[in-house]
Amino acid sequence: MDHIDWANLPFGYQKTNYNVRSYYREGEWGKIEVSDSEFVSIHMAATGLHYGQQAFEGLKAYMGKDGKVRLFRWDENAKRMQDSANGIMMAVPPMELFKEAVLKAVRMNAEFIPPHGTGAALYIRPLLFGSGPRVGVKPADEFLFMVFVTPVGAYFKEGFNPVSIMVSRDYDRAAPKGTGRYKVGGNYAASLTIGEIAHKEGYASVLFLDAREKKYIDEAGPANFFAIKGNTYITPLSESILPSITNKSLMVLAEDMGMKVERRKVALEELSEFDEVGACGTAAVISPIRRIADPEMGTEWNYCLDGKAGAKSTQLYQRLLDIQYGDAEDKFGWTTVVDF
Ligand code: PLP
Ligand code: COI
Repeated sequence: MDHIDWANLPFGYQKTNYNVRSYYREGEWGKIEVSDSEFVSIHMAATGLHYGQQAFEGLKAYMGKDGKVRLFRWDENAKRMQDSANGIMMAVPPMELFKEAVLKAVRMNAEFIPPHGTGAALYIRPLLFGSGPRVGVKPADEFLFMVFVTPVGAYFKEGFNPVSIMVSRDYDRAAPKGTGRYKVGGNYAASLTIGEIAHKEGYASVLFLDAREKKYIDEAGPANFFAIKGNTYITPLSESILPSITNKSLMVLAEDMGMKVERRKVALEELSEFDEVGACGTAAVISPIRRIADPEMGTEWNYCLDGKAGAKSTQLYQRLLDIQYGDAEDKFGWTTVVDF
């Protein structure tokens, strides 16, 4: 794939050679099928189109200096997709099916795995939706699970350069007892309007607050929020945020670096006490935050006053990437080498 400018890849869709699919029909998952079409043919009354019976995942395959391709914690993504499926009454893809589909999609698109050192990776997008027809509001009885891949660069155009984000006060992405902890499309639909408003105002993303009281920090757009205060890593505990695998990993790395880790409610006012703040996720990796604005309240908080990411965020970012790309020992057993 000589025509791809690996080092300047955006986070976007690019056609690859193949995707894989498995249909759930009559109570059973079918064999994994390989397709070279970017399109799916679905019933116009599919519940995925009408009633939001849809969930997705996002993970990456990384090319190592040693030429080995690694997946990062695929089992966590598989479990989360199972949680999402259970959460909105969809058929649950078994772990083995998830793994085989992901491996197959990566193997069959090997030429799209960005070379080591370019900062890019192969983004893997498992997708599950109700394909069976319903007109009444009911779960489907047929589902399609598929996996496609696309090479990507940094999610935020700033890369690891600090970003500005805006507090969302007029829009919630999820209700307290709603579907925020599942990776279902409806949460993202709810975030689009405020996301576009924020982009127009020059912000990279938004900071969602807890929907009930608007007092605590929930998450940062398509990423979890974390803060560093002295030697402590702090991240919100909330039932309406996505349990981020990146965040879970950063908590382990922070502890391993001798830091204290606190997972608890984080009040917005605490922003003035933090030394570093950031957003984390598969797509975002770590995005250091330099400014959080709350325009409605006329408040803002500033970080990275020297223009650079904070020391602890930088260390965490480097340690995570080193494990993902196979440059450091995988002492927690997080990576799976893809055999070709
Ligand atoms: N929060 C939301 C809403 C997301 O879409 C994502 C991306 O998957 C994350 C957090 C980060 O999760 P992960 O680290 O598992 O990618
Ligand atoms: C991810 O980090 O994988 C995401 O899902 C973020 C976004 C593209 C939805």
